[in-house]
Amino acid sequence: MIKTAIYPGSFDPITNGHIDILKRALKVFDRVILAIACNPRKHSLFTVEERIRLAREVFRNDKRVIVDSFTGLLVDYVRRKKSNVVIRGLRAVSDFEYEFQMAHMNMKLAPEIETFFMMTGQEHFYISSQTVKEVATFSGCVKGIVPPNVEKALREKYGNK
Ligand code: PNS
Repeated sequence: MIKTAIYPGSFDPITNGHIDILKRALKVFDRVILAIACNPRKHSLFTVEERIRLAREVFRNDKRVIVDSFTGLLVDYVRRKKSNVVIRGLRAVSDFEYEFQMAHMNMKLAPEIETFFMMTGQEHFYISSQTVKEVATFSGCVKGIVPPNVEKALREKYGNK
């Protein structure tokens, strides 16, 4: 039986930290669906279509990775995909409270779904989509923090050379 895990998030944009988590998850699961949340109330830099395209480019050579988007509750999406595993990356203690709340709410809504937390690799500890955008806004260098296609997309978004 193929074991599918769902890796949800905003991915605005996808970073090398996300890629590291997903690749490591593939050591345990047969297939990972990177599920990009469409939340009209959350202001995002990249549209959902742009975020999907960027993530698909990164994983274009790996058939075990499916890039998709979802609206509504995550647990409903996970059920629709016939999975029962959600993957989340944890960087620091500061992530914990938010993740703890979300995992417990999801557990309450769907007790059959388990959230698996993976520790972010040491070299990605300081990376977040938020800090990446902050650095890119001021033309800072994000090489090695995001994949090359995202680096290019950020330059184009902010009109940097
Ligand atoms: O990358 P993010 O922004 O931390 O991801 C958060 C995300 C998208 C996983 C979370 O907001 C989510 O699951 N949204 C869907 C709505 C939902 O199911 N909310 C209930 C959990 S509190």
